[in-house]
Amino acid sequence: MRQRTLSIIKPDGVSRNLIGKVIGRLEAADIKIMAMKMIKMTKEQAKGFYKVHEGKPFYESVTDFMSSGPSVVMVLDGDDVIKEYRKLMGATNYKEAEEGTIRREFATDIEKNVVHGSDSEENARFEINYFFNALEIPAQ
Ligand code: CMP
Repeated sequence: MRQRTLSIIKPDGVSRNLIGKVIGRLEAADIKIMAMKMIKMTKEQAKGFYKVHEGKPFYESVTDFMSSGPSVVMVLDGDDVIKEYRKLMGATNYKEAEEGTIRREFATDIEKNVVHGSDSEENARFEINYFFNALEIPAQ
């Protein structure tokens, strides 16, 4: 099934010069980038993005981290791309991520895990619309 998902290269990925490495992996997996930009979230914007995690013990810390520097946000497109991209990323906790995944290879911490990907179609819609307006996403 053709889908879209939201990908973020997080501030640790950008500051550690991993943008090209992450994009190279998307290209090698034939996942198409439909839209892409670099942004720097405010604390408020990060809190809105991670609203589903409000109240969790890591909410303050992850929203500080996500607003600490620039990120690259992308809309990805492909067959079953939500699941396919999550496979490429590996588990949230890099220690549990499979060999060869982005997080296993590059993450340094459960929070500083280099990349984000939507976990469902509903969340993908919310997350894509959070960062991109209709003019920024090519019509299909
Ligand atoms: P992400 O997939 O972007 O979703 C929520 C983020 O919170 C997660 O990646 C991590 O960067 C961060 N985080 C920090 N601690 C935890 C935790 N214990 N469980 C899940 N996510 C965490």
